[in-house]
Amino acid sequence: MPTPKGPPELKHLDHVLVSATAIKRRVAGLGTQINHDYTNKDLMVVAIVNGALIFAADLLRQLSSPLRLDCLRASSYHDGTKAVHEPRIVDQMKLDVRGQHVLLVDDILDTGKTLAAVAGLIKSKGALSVKTCVLLDKKARRAVPFEADYAGFEIPDEFVVGYGLDFNERYRNLPCIGVLKPKFYAGK
Ligand code: IMP
Ligand code: MG
Repeated sequence: MPTPKGPPELKHLDHVLVSATAIKRRVAGLGTQINHDYTNKDLMVVAIVNGALIFAADLLRQLSSPLRLDCLRASSYHDGTKAVHEPRIVDQMKLDVRGQHVLLVDDILDTGKTLAAVAGLIKSKGALSVKTCVLLDKKARRAVPFEADYAGFEIPDEFVVGYGLDFNERYRNLPCIGVLKPKFYAGK
């Protein structure tokens, strides 16, 4: 029997929603689109970590401009799959966004509260333009009116892990996007 590829936690998945191959292909497509839209523009990417870490790392290597990168840390998930408070920015950017074309990168657009808050903040700091790029879009969950300028995949209302997304800080290292078996969410 062939040895399964990837980390052993792959066995914790009930089903895969987006395969590693599909992610790779879509990230390349997003890169092409972004390169086209930002031709001759000085680009500053702001990744919202930890969730966007892996997506941003792959996306950035598809971008052809001599961009600058900064990260900020936002937090709203402290209790399993439920947001227990409004998003808070818990670690600020270091670079100055004044006069910059900013592309915000996040793992998933869910209620929309995080990106709405962060995009508002960056605009208020004097960015010339602010666009957003997410790997996943859970449209059914939107609580505030917010759409991403670039979205990789629209997914159903299921709590997903992998490729940067976590459940209780685990499973970020999975190469695909999937839904855990119920017993791994149980009791949380
Ligand atoms: P928001 O609800 O759009 O503000 O999303 C906030 C954050 O919640 C996202 O950046 C993710 O880090 C996290 N999140 C939302 N849905 C999921 C999910 O299905 N799995 C893992 N994290 C999620
Ligand atoms: Mg996040």
